Amino acid sequence: MSNQREQWGSKLGFILAAAGSAVGIGNIWKYPHMAGQNGGAAFTIVYLICILVVGLSIVIAELVIGRKTQLSPVGAFETIAPRSNWKWVGFLGVGSAFVILAFYGVVGGWILKYIVLSLSGGFETLTGNPTEAESIFGAFISSTWSPIIYQVIFMALCIYVIVNGVKNGIEKWSKIMMPLIIGLLVVLAIRGLTLPNGVEGLTFLFKPKFEDLTASSIVLALGHSFFTLSLGMGTMITYGSYLNPKQNLLNSALWVILLDTAIAMLAGVAIFTTVFAMNADPAGGPGLIFFILPSVFPQLIGGTIWGTLFFVLLFMAALTSAISILEVVTAYFIDQKGWSRKKATIQFGSVITIVGIFCSLSYGGGINITAFMGLPFFDFMDHLSSKYMLPIGGMLTAIFVLKKWGVDNFLSELRSGMDNSIISKELIVVLMGIAASVVGFIILNEVLDLAFGIKLIQ
Ligand code: TRP
Repeated sequence: MSNQREQWGSKLGFILAAAGSAVGIGNIWKYPHMAGQNGGAAFTIVYLICILVVGLSIVIAELVIGRKTQLSPVGAFETIAPRSNWKWVGFLGVGSAFVILAFYGVVGGWILKYIVLSLSGGFETLTGNPTEAESIFGAFISSTWSPIIYQVIFMALCIYVIVNGVKNGIEKWSKIMMPLIIGLLVVLAIRGLTLPNGVEGLTFLFKPKFEDLTASSIVLALGHSFFTLSLGMGTMITYGSYLNPKQNLLNSALWVILLDTAIAMLAGVAIFTTVFAMNADPAGGPGLIFFILPSVFPQLIGGTIWGTLFFVLLFMAALTSAISILEVVTAYFIDQKGWSRKKATIQFGSVITIVGIFCSLSYGGGINITAFMGLPFFDFMDHLSSKYMLPIGGMLTAIFVLKKWGVDNFLSELRSGMDNSIISKELIVVLMGIAASVVGFIILNEVLDLAFGIKLIQ
């Protein structure tokens, strides 16, 4: 079986696929508005520290586990720690994939709808009128059928890419879409910077405002560093499992982190320069993309084109991330249950789509299940994954390396493909230790808050 395992076609292909997983709605939508609301550069500095210390450690841990075992999460933990409970960390990952992709697919659908809206000139009627743009967005997401139809199309595209396999599906499409994403963002950023007053956007995004940085923004930065790097559910274990021992994993991990961070910053520049040049509200928060930008684009010359390009780029970023989430589920059924790629992908892609339909409907389109922590089902799935499942998965992965697998074994796998040993045993112990304890503290904070309303950090 294992000698038939699919492999990436090239080193670059793997890096683009892994960066494609990392670069998603999180970079282009979440990071800019979080930075905008939490102290600009002050937030960015904290975020960079989280990425470099905690993020880098867990990216490397996941890639090493995947490449060593050549298996997706459940099989990977089981191979290194047979007959133990560690395989449940793998199951937690597969479960997280269902939870995340359910709502991620809905947002993917919204983005598709906005490409269509922009192309059909729909933004023109919103010129300089974010309130109108907001009510149009609100009406759309709370309707019954339209968001579901777009979500189903998005999920079908995702299934299509995965069915074609690792090299001819995921890698091929990542190699096409990643350069396009970077190119389009650079063009949009230059467009924004050359607008009158555009440079003010840079000040807004990059000037440190330490008074706006609270303890909860630090928690936010840490949680986001997990989400943006696709960590804590075995995505990188799965992608690492299609690698051969010749690849330098430290180098690959650094590339993924660099691309992910650079693209988040570029998106921030493209968005805030345009928002400032057009005198729109930069503190628009989560609505920035769906109602501030559509009301801003038509004010530019060639606005329909800029608006469409923006949503096309966001769509590609969302798709390369969504496929990495579905691949975790597909790989589990291929590796552990011996299913064919096609059967696994179509069946479970459909199950996730159906769960996603309930997320979509929870915004007012029909079945309004709010029994979960008092939240709409959509928000519940988002909180469940990003506040609990991913951090727990990430923390357990670091503990696994330290306590179960052993740092020596881990290091000998990491060193394969690296021509020197800049990484020492002590460094790994420190990094994994910090990652596990910082994340553990954050989880404790969340759980205590949920159960008893006690907040260790405000
Ligand atoms: N990293 C992606 C983003 O920034 C989302 C994503 C893809 C993800 N795969 C994941 C998040 C796995 C958590 C776990 O949008």
